Amino acid sequence: MHFPFTSGKWQLKLGVQSLDLKDWIQIDSHFQSEIDLKEQLTLSHPSEVFGSLPQSLESQREILSLLIEHLLTYFPQIYHAQGNLIQNSLINKTWQIDDFATNPLALAGRLVQEDFLILQPVDSQYCLTAASVCFPLHWKIAEKLGHPLAMIHQPVPQYQQKLSHSVDNLFTRLSAENPVWRLNWSLVDTPDLFLAKGIKKEGNLPTITSENAGDRLWLRFERQSMRRLPKTGNIVFGVHTYIEPLKILANSPEAAQGLVSAVQQMPFEMQVYKSILPVRDALIAYLENL
Ligand code: HEM
Repeated sequence: MHFPFTSGKWQLKLGVQSLDLKDWIQIDSHFQSEIDLKEQLTLSHPSEVFGSLPQSLESQREILSLLIEHLLTYFPQIYHAQGNLIQNSLINKTWQIDDFATNPLALAGRLVQEDFLILQPVDSQYCLTAASVCFPLHWKIAEKLGHPLAMIHQPVPQYQQKLSHSVDNLFTRLSAENPVWRLNWSLVDTPDLFLAKGIKKEGNLPTITSENAGDRLWLRFERQSMRRLPKTGNIVFGVHTYIEPLKILANSPEAAQGLVSAVQQMPFEMQVYKSILPVRDALIAYLENL
């Protein structure tokens, strides 16, 4: 695994790379448990894991059809389509495509581990118009729906000064032929994937020490992909979330050292935003003793 902090630098930057479309979707060993979890969350928290505005419907349809085509092409042993049915033989589950006529993006988000969001221009600003997100990191769809990227990122320190312009530029110039991806990392005190806002962010943090940090903290990575939809011209943002216990860094001394220096360089307000401040000393002491 490549850890994004291995370089030891902390920088708020776009950091996008070009995406080979065959790598748009990734299936890993957590596939079954995460698809099951998505099914459960859809029943227990329907309005928290899906939201859409009417103008997104055509793009939702386009994403679902691109996704099904992609899955049948790149994972033909796993996915099978027949008429109105799409089947996943790995977990022995079949979905009726017609059941999702009003919310095709919800089916897209249940077929794979990725979450999906749609961004489309409103008054020349890219706004969130639909989201199928089962694995949010302390935010709520309802609070972001209909808003432009700058407002969505309002809680992120220095976003306006350092990122807003380049993210807006990227979205304007993104072409259907040249999709991109980037990696985001965070540190969390739970392996739970569904972290809706409201779940107390810092509940367990004070009890984390340099002795137990390896078992009580997790690295959370978001592999984010961005591609322009060829027909509707809007953008689909895909997010595959990965969780690893911090102790995984015991096998990667260079990455452990990189994390120490990235945290040491991180501005104070970013340490607060990312809930690193309360565990900073325990974290650094743990990593330096590895
Ligand atoms: C290249 C594009 C993007 C960049 C560089 C970017 C950057 C960031 C960064 C640095 C954070 C802080 C997260 C952390 O480090 O802990 C963040 C948070 C977030 N981003 Fe993005 N982002 C991008 C695109 C998007 C898109 C397309 C969406 C779609 C809605 C989005 C939604 C969010 C949300 C909801 C948060 C959490 C905000 C909160 O705390 O309320 N981002 N983003």
